Amino acid sequence: MEFLWWVFNISILLIMLMVFAVSLMGVYLFCSSLGERWAPPVRASGKLKAAVLSEISKELENANMPQKVVDLGSGWGTLLLPLAKKFPNHHFVGIERALTPFYVSQFRARKLSNLEFVRQDFFTYDLSDTNFVMMFLIGFMMPKVTEKCLKELPKNATVLAVRFPLTRIEADAVVKLETSLETYYLYKGLV
Ligand SMILES: C[S@@+](CC[C@H](N)C(=O)[O-])C[C@H]1O[C@@H](n2cnc3c(N)ncnc32)[C@H](O)[C@@H]1O
Repeated sequence: MEFLWWVFNISILLIMLMVFAVSLMGVYLFCSSLGERWAPPVRASGKLKAAVLSEISKELENANMPQKVVDLGSGWGTLLLPLAKKFPNHHFVGIERALTPFYVSQFRARKLSNLEFVRQDFFTYDLSDTNFVMMFLIGFMMPKVTEKCLKELPKNATVLAVRFPLTRIEADAVVKLETSLETYYLYKGLV
């Protein structure tokens, strides 16, 4: 009888350990799908988001033909969703590699025909027909992103970089809000 009691307890313990290990693996997989290791899917928010949206809105209001706007690393779609709702005549594309933000943003955009999210490494996305590029990435990515923009973007394209500037090129405008973290850089034509 005592033997059975021990077998029962050890089995329960093993089952609990297995449940714990599977849960840990689930949490790990979920977290790693949330974002790239070095550019976490934090969002532009508060005053920074408002300022960036207003800057892009000014550009789009002044455009005399439909524009293609691309967000490199679109996260949860925080910037593109309000823009696509406000400007039905312009076309918006978000490129996002991380699983969870991609599917969430795609779901949020389901009723907007002028907004698409693409699950792809943005370094492999062709920018040659893009009029406006925005990005909120991290410093070490910027040299490679700069080279890509210089190589592929049409000469008159506009680039807006949040927090981290392009390298080698001087911005046409640097807009600093309250802290240096709340800064964005505007480039009107890269060449
Ligand atoms: C800081 S978030 C910015 C999100 C959004 N643009 C915003 O301003 O709210 C950066 C996003 O870039 C994505 N990202 C980083 N490198 C990428 C790559 N090579 N290709 C596609 N997405 C990438 C990350 O997964 C993350 O969601």
